[in-house]
Amino acid sequence: MSWRREGRRIGLVPTMGYLHDGHLSLVRRARKAVGSDGRVVVSIYVNPTQFSPTEDLSAYPRDLKNDLKRCREYGADQVFVPRDEVMYAGRESSCYSTFVTEEQLGRSMEGKSRPVHFRGVTTVVAKLFNIVLPDIAVFGAKDWQQAAIVKRMVKDLNFPVRVIVNPTVREKDGLAMSSRNAYLSAEERPQANVLWKSIKLARETVRDSETAIPASRLKRKIEALMKSHPLGRLDYVEFFDPETLEISRQIKRGTHMALAVFFNKARLIDNGRL
Ligand code: PAJ
Repeated sequence: MSWRREGRRIGLVPTMGYLHDGHLSLVRRARKAVGSDGRVVVSIYVNPTQFSPTEDLSAYPRDLKNDLKRCREYGADQVFVPRDEVMYAGRESSCYSTFVTEEQLGRSMEGKSRPVHFRGVTTVVAKLFNIVLPDIAVFGAKDWQQAAIVKRMVKDLNFPVRVIVNPTVREKDGLAMSSRNAYLSAEERPQANVLWKSIKLARETVRDSETAIPASRLKRKIEALMKSHPLGRLDYVEFFDPETLEISRQIKRGTHMALAVFFNKARLIDNGRL
């Protein structure tokens, strides 16, 4: 609060921890946005309401000691690590009954595969905004639909927060960095860049064609590519308008693509502009 009274700009980077270079790129971006007098807050909270009962809440990787070290190295001014008691009046949520729901952009893709997910995300992000009172908040393009939903929530509910979306940081072979990559076995890891290869395949196909390409044709190509990565199982692949998230049937340059692939217990997502 005293930072606000001192007139400092506050930047927030919400995370679920197990920090990697993708997260840290957001910290750097927040620092740039608030300037040298500003303050950067990183929140680390594995938010139970965005996991369904069948998902990986208890298995989600955690390493707070290392996260705090990395936050210090990257120049975060404060790390906010709330407990469930603070966020939801405890694990047994009978004392908690208010949620924020975005009702349009969250219906497809991740929202379809993970029905309670975005309600949990918008609720916790709204709560973090109310607690930290940031001027800006930085999200990753890696979770494109999440970022679009947060932007819509900010607009619809008049949060005085500027949302910045920062590019996806990748491993050398193109695999998008993710805390969930820790679940991949040594056998699965080399096949996990099939998400990035799928995006590149679709991008090349679209860019080589003079006319729009039916989504069904691109989906078949990606399914064929998946066959040479047999440890992966495609959950969905969709093509859509990057702003409205409206699903596209005819794909051209500038259309966005997103996909989700299971590798045993790891469910990986990625997206990119075609
Ligand atoms: P988490 O998966 O920890 O991600 C925190 C932020 O880091 C998100 O904005 C995400 O898009 C971004 N991020 C993850 N991997 C990235 C990468 N490879 N490159 C760039 N940015 C990346 O997303 C969440 O947590 C939660 O849903 C949260 C928003 C914190 C709400 O609980």
